[in-house]
Amino acid sequence: MSLENTPAPALEPALAELLASAEQAALHSYSPYSSFRVGAALRLTTGEIVTGTNVENVSYGLTLCAERAALVRAVSQFGPGIRIAAVAVANLNQAASPPCGACRQVLAEFISADAPVLFPAADGLRSMPFSAILPLAFDMKLK
Ligand code: THU
Repeated sequence: MSLENTPAPALEPALAELLASAEQAALHSYSPYSSFRVGAALRLTTGEIVTGTNVENVSYGLTLCAERAALVRAVSQFGPGIRIAAVAVANLNQAASPPCGACRQVLAEFISADAPVLFPAADGLRSMPFSAILPLAFDMKLK
């Protein structure tokens, strides 16, 4: 059987729901400069789903990514004790969009190493444990 004909494995229902939430969030994207519409959904360990979308700015550098928008919303809504059990990222541009480096470092603060991160990669949807997408995250240890 050729690789091209191999069907993509079905997503487990909880991750499929998270991905659908990310896709829904991307519909709210404010992206007049890049036209790249991104949505992110976080599953908290309490079961809640919190979403975010990218919010661009004319200064470009002040643009907020979907993943960080979701995280800030989650902490604002549920407090500083939140823990993230899973992340899904989607975009409406049929493009790859793994979380950027800055978002990975910010997620690291609240996520467990084995939490799955689902994102569109160049070769299709991919799910990787958080520790695989951000090895050696900065973590301040004072001596
Ligand atoms: N973007 C995200 O929302 N998440 C990422 O991880 C990478 C990039 C947004 C920022 C900007 O609005 C657009 O995608 C193009 O970079």
